[in-house]
Amino acid sequence: MAMALSLAWLSSTIASVLGDHRGPRAPQAHRRADDPIVAAPDDRVRSSQCVRCHEEQVRQWRASLHARSWEDRIFLAAYREEPMAFCRGCHAPLGDASREPDALARSEGVSCSSCHAESRAHLASPRTARATRDEHRGAAASERLCAGCHQFDFVVDRGADRPLWHSPTPMQDTVREWQRASRYARERGGVERDCVQCHMPSGTHATRGVEQREFVRRAVAVTVRACRSGAVWRVRATIGPTDAVGHAVPTGDLHRQLRLVVSDGRGREASRVFARRFERRLEIDDRGGAFFSRVERFDGRIAPPGPESEDTVTLELAATDARPPAWRLEHWRTDPEIARDQGLSTHEINTTLDEGQALPCDAR
Ligand code: HEC
Ligand code: HEC
Ligand code: HEC
Ligand code: HEC
Ligand code: HEC
Repeated sequence: MAMALSLAWLSSTIASVLGDHRGPRAPQAHRRADDPIVAAPDDRVRSSQCVRCHEEQVRQWRASLHARSWEDRIFLAAYREEPMAFCRGCHAPLGDASREPDALARSEGVSCSSCHAESRAHLASPRTARATRDEHRGAAASERLCAGCHQFDFVVDRGADRPLWHSPTPMQDTVREWQRASRYARERGGVERDCVQCHMPSGTHATRGVEQREFVRRAVAVTVRACRSGAVWRVRATIGPTDAVGHAVPTGDLHRQLRLVVSDGRGREASRVFARRFERRLEIDDRGGAFFSRVERFDGRIAPPGPESEDTVTLELAATDARPPAWRLEHWRTDPEIARDQGLSTHEINTTLDEGQALPCDAR
């Protein structure tokens, strides 16, 4: 039942992104009751079966969040708050979504066969049978393979006799954001890049993401200027995406956020001002019974590269120090309240991406 839920929901998600495209390509979207992966769970394809011939890919993948998609502490903290079959379908795709994943599904996470859908046939005859159904590069790969898990809605299961209800708000919108950025690049005659080119360059399976501070830092350009005006500093910050990113910042999980923090020239804690949070504001949509969802009120993230993606933040700060104000751009991997409730330390979820002293303001 819960497996059927994740199937129906994945197909309709992808159909809504891709219009009448021929269909979902993510492997779990292909699972049917007669699929051997579902029918014989102990015969599941696992990474240890590939290591003999593809040691490098297995080692790289082990270091990625795909391999830890279940065991990752940040995921588990959120899952304990909302332990739904829905989550298990993507974070432990080798398991049976109707119950807690077993040891194999937990340790494999998003495994080789999640992306190389013909792995079983390939194992039987490696030289003649491809592990991969489609090309794994280009826009089509992003829209078929990656979109299967990286673009989806909040859904509500209203019972077997009614279709799933989809929130107007996507839970993750990365592929659509990327489509917008690609359209813009195309219109400008710029370079279009797909997910694999940026996240798996030269085919590395150690996908790049939040755990690589420098990778995330390069996505954002910040300029902060300040002019002294009597007893206050007038601060003006501009912030926008660079060419190194292909969607909104932050993208992906709904709890990610950036914060621009400004303080006096000595960076004193007491003088800190939260200049802006770049995050999505979601409201609970609870209509009673099993109907529980979320609706977006405001998208305050840095928009995907496009004509109007630069944002300006202005504020005033008491001029308690002669030096121009200091600023800091922080990345928060999850909501600090969830982290606190679940015993994660601030250190685990908060990274300083960039910091500096405000430049003198433009002469006027
Ligand atoms: C998130 C999806 C994903 C997962 C998970 C994944 N791969 Fe891949 N794999 C890809 C993509 C995409 C390419 C193509 C990369 C390219 O051409 O730049 C690829 C390419 C490969 C190649 C061909 C390398 C070459 O140089 O031609 C091998 C071998 C491979 N993967 C093995 C594995 C193994 C083994 C695992 C599990 C440990 C695995 N993959 C997990 C997406 C994935
Ligand atoms: C007995 C050795 C062997 C094992 C085990 C093996 N492969 Fe391969 N694999 C090969 C060979 C040989 C090729 C072809 C390499 C070439 O053409 O350069 C290949 C090619 C690939 C490719 C690139 C072409 C394609 O099919 O897309 C992928 C991806 C791949 N293997 C994934 C896997 C995965 C995933 C596993 C584990 C489920 C696995 N392989 C297990 C030998 C093996
Ligand atoms: C031009 C390069 C580029 C392209 C194209 C691109 N990304 Fe990213 N991606 C980045 C950068 C840089 C970051 C870090 C900043 C951020 O979080 O937005 C990132 C962040 C992410 C994250 C969050 C990272 C994490 O560890 O949580 C995910 C998930 C992601 N991208 C998926 C995708 C998918 C899926 C696609 C294709 C639809 C894609 N990206 C296309 C550069 C790119
Ligand atoms: C079977 C579902 C699935 C597929 C298919 C998939 N992903 Fe993921 N991906 C996930 C999950 C789940 C996570 C989150 C892991 C976590 O942090 O808990 C993730 C995380 C990521 C991250 C952050 C990783 C990091 O190490 O920081 C990137 C980047 C990413 N995926 C890119 C891709 C790209 C590119 C593709 C297509 C080639 C792809 N994914 C296909 C499920 C998938
Ligand atoms: C359609 C597939 C899908 C479903 C369903 C799903 N996720 Fe995810 N989840 C992802 C992907 C893809 C990422 C990677 C995005 C990113 O890194 O920002 C991710 C990332 C996360 C992260 C961030 C992990 C980290 O390493 O920082 C948390 C937390 C999370 N998911 C919790 C959940 C919970 C709880 C549920 C169920 C209520 C759920 N997810 C359902 C695909 C899914």
